Amino acid sequence: MPKVRRLPQDFFWGNSVSSMQTEGAWNEGGKGKSVYDVRDATADSSNWRVAIDEYHRYEEDLDLLKGMNMNMCRIQISWSRIVPDGDGEFNEEGISFYDNLINAMISRNITPMICLYHFDMPLALAEKENGFMSRHTVDAFVRFSKKVIEHFADRVKYWITFNEHNLYFTDEVFNISGYLKGSKSLNDMYRIFHHTMLAHAKIDKFIHKNFDTLKIGGMLAYTPIYPETSKPIDVYCARKIDEFLNNNLTEAYINGMYSSEVLQFIKNKKINFDFQKGDFDILNKMKADFLSFSYYRSAVLNADKIPNNVAPNRYLNYGFEDNRFLKKTEWGWNIDPLGFRNIITSLYNQYHIPVFPIENGIGIRENWNGKDMIHDDQRISYHREHIKAMKDAIFLDGAKVLGYLGWGLIDIPSSHGDMEKRYGTVYVNRSNHDLKDLKRVPKKSYYWFKSILEKNGDEL
Ligand code: BG6
Repeated sequence: MPKVRRLPQDFFWGNSVSSMQTEGAWNEGGKGKSVYDVRDATADSSNWRVAIDEYHRYEEDLDLLKGMNMNMCRIQISWSRIVPDGDGEFNEEGISFYDNLINAMISRNITPMICLYHFDMPLALAEKENGFMSRHTVDAFVRFSKKVIEHFADRVKYWITFNEHNLYFTDEVFNISGYLKGSKSLNDMYRIFHHTMLAHAKIDKFIHKNFDTLKIGGMLAYTPIYPETSKPIDVYCARKIDEFLNNNLTEAYINGMYSSEVLQFIKNKKINFDFQKGDFDILNKMKADFLSFSYYRSAVLNADKIPNNVAPNRYLNYGFEDNRFLKKTEWGWNIDPLGFRNIITSLYNQYHIPVFPIENGIGIRENWNGKDMIHDDQRISYHREHIKAMKDAIFLDGAKVLGYLGWGLIDIPSSHGDMEKRYGTVYVNRSNHDLKDLKRVPKKSYYWFKSILEKNGDEL
């Protein structure tokens, strides 16, 4: 009999979601509008007004998570539900909603984790301030965050600020930071990124100064980039993009300053990123307690396809290549459990603070016929292989890992609002343009998770 690889009893297993992909109730409970609330449905996406109606159905959904033997749930606190116009009055009704939600988790022995920003900028701040282009928005975000932290500190230990913070250092930044107008230049990208890092640093400092027991982590969208070949230029470019998109942030979270390679690039290119006197001191005070990340896939970079003078932040816009060694999903996301192990191991090797994968999963198109269970064997296999890879990182490579959270384990619309791309172990009965009855229906993977978590993942 092979030896059981036993995880600690307090290892976290759970689900991870954002507000706009779950809550709905876009105009209830005193919520202000966010940039998502004004986005219309398209041929292949829904609008964001109902999502999966979590606002009214969280008790049922928490029972479902508990039924899978999960003990953690990462939620987001929506800024525009707490501060409807982003920088004005606090909305007590919004705070009460999260009080009830968090109390409902705790009463089921589900540990909450809070994320403070997941791309849904209050509309008023997007329109007035152009989102995180402005330092006023940084101050407003820090004010909102402090209020939330003070209020929930007695019940919530684990905190993150920006979901997938490294996306703010790519062209995605223009979709996720409340940026409505501008030239989408490198200057703007770097400025917004720096502003969000300042906000993170201020919140990190606030937590450490005031609350001994709370933990704050950085959060990256971690996509390992493989060189297309062993040609030195492929290897060089793959290393360089990793430095810009990943190490640059982990260095800041842990050592309080950006990567020297990135700073030299800024200097050489004369990028104006609004680095002001005093910023160094703010960044320097950061000290992450853990490093968290989302992981879905790896990518391949072909340096020959990258034109001269393209900033490393944009390499993947040009050099992205298919990986012929890996299977991929309908959406072209390749399946790479070893890539997952590699990240966990290398982050821990580098920094020796706990690592926490807080989003993992596979998007699959599924249709429920109204009576039979959905047999999502591909999802079972995806999670099984990734959990095994994580256990390899722990038991073979010596990494310290706090837990494993799946993404959207009760179906939610994808990041583009597409209900056809489902991550859940529980089917939610709605489509992009028909809300149907929003019934929750466990899939085969639900029972698989339930059985492996009964034994804390010992079997894997
Ligand atoms: C992450 C985001 O990028 O990946 C989520 O934090 C998103 O918001 C998830 O839903 C999966 O991506 P997608 O596009 O398949 O929904």
